[in-house]
Amino acid sequence: MASSTIDRGSWNSKLGFVLAAAGSAVGLGNIWRFPTEAASNGGGAFLLIYLACCFLIGYPVMMAEIGIGRKTGKNPVGAFKALSTNKFYPLIGMWGVLCGVMILSFYTVVAGWTVSYVFEEIFFFAGYTEWAAWIGDTSNGWLNAFFSIVFMFATVSIITGGVSDGIERATKMLMPLLFIILFVLIGYVVLQPGSTEGLAVYLKPDFSRITPELVFAAMGQAFFSLSLGMGALITYGSYLSKQENVPEAAAWVTTTDALVAFLAGLLIIPAMYMAQAQGIAIFDDGGELLAGPALIFQVLPSLFHDLGGIWGIFLGITFFVLLSVAALTSTISLLEVPVSYVIDEFQVQRKKAAKYIGLGILAIALIISFDTSLIGTLDFVFSQIGLPLGGIMICLFLSYVWKIDSAMEELETGNPGFGRGIVGRVWKIMVMIICPLVIFYNLINNFL
Ligand code: PHE
Repeated sequence: MASSTIDRGSWNSKLGFVLAAAGSAVGLGNIWRFPTEAASNGGGAFLLIYLACCFLIGYPVMMAEIGIGRKTGKNPVGAFKALSTNKFYPLIGMWGVLCGVMILSFYTVVAGWTVSYVFEEIFFFAGYTEWAAWIGDTSNGWLNAFFSIVFMFATVSIITGGVSDGIERATKMLMPLLFIILFVLIGYVVLQPGSTEGLAVYLKPDFSRITPELVFAAMGQAFFSLSLGMGALITYGSYLSKQENVPEAAAWVTTTDALVAFLAGLLIIPAMYMAQAQGIAIFDDGGELLAGPALIFQVLPSLFHDLGGIWGIFLGITFFVLLSVAALTSTISLLEVPVSYVIDEFQVQRKKAAKYIGLGILAIALIISFDTSLIGTLDFVFSQIGLPLGGIMICLFLSYVWKIDSAMEELETGNPGFGRGIVGRVWKIMVMIICPLVIFYNLINNFL
């Protein structure tokens, strides 16, 4: 086979895999999407349902994905081909590749904003307020296009470096940086007056808010945030050595991601109430806390500007650097999925694959740059629905086509006895029955 001529690459260490996978998981989803979903969906109630979704549904699906990837050593499409003879099943992988491409196309635009806001803050504090306003205008299509190009360029540069020299090396530097910045920011914000009210809103559960929509939102958030349902972890798992312990590595990734989401809430919700104390509006017309772009690219910058002084400068710049770093380790994994597909299935060299696929996705990102209202639609179709749908298909495929016992054998490689332990036994029931049913029920329930 010609495939042996192309070196697929592998992780240098378990830590490398965990950091890269956690880097994929931790992204705009945690820092941008999660806190406001929580705040506008009953605070602690959303947090609880979200954590349940992460550990009861997300964690089993993550083990399933990593297991499929490691067993086959293939991209998502190739993996389904390797485990079945039926031509239909690789379509599950194709669906994943499509979701990855579409998510990356809008994610690149938002990631571009995080970079443009690093400059917005610098200009503002340097006294060039008009420049700051200009560069911070997210409705300017040309600017959006420019920063999307910048971000895609950075992503492609890392991907062309390969698995261990590119992805692993970059995430080993970026993830610790992300944690340091996050802790410094939280430390500052929770000590400020006004932040306790935000803490209460975030942490106090309002159980009356638990509705089918909330559960649907929390589940979609868990899939998006854990990078599940589209084969990102099949791909990353395919570079993992047989000696590594998959259940343990997946537990690290899930916990890290949930922890960062939780911490981001501790940073952002109190920061919003600090902003309110400064007279900045934090509610929309419907009385809900502002969410999404309005929050990250309006409320928080206003807060940093009002704070002024050394703290304002420091917080303003580091916050957007934090977001950019988190976004970059996620765009890397999103691009790696179609790139690995083309490398494996068409024997294209990595550099070439990364460049051309990056260009193709950039073309879609440029369209979105000029019509940012597409972001919400694409997010709904490909993240909110597409990823859980992919999750169902992965669970069913693993359980009934590849067969649960073969999958268990794979998980036991590197973790002998896993199948006899409590986690292993629960995992079987989850992937075979509970996860597909719960996800399906949730998708249907939301539409009824
Ligand atoms: N998990 C990433 C985030 O939270 C987004 C992502 C989704 C990355 C799917 C890869 C695959 O921002």
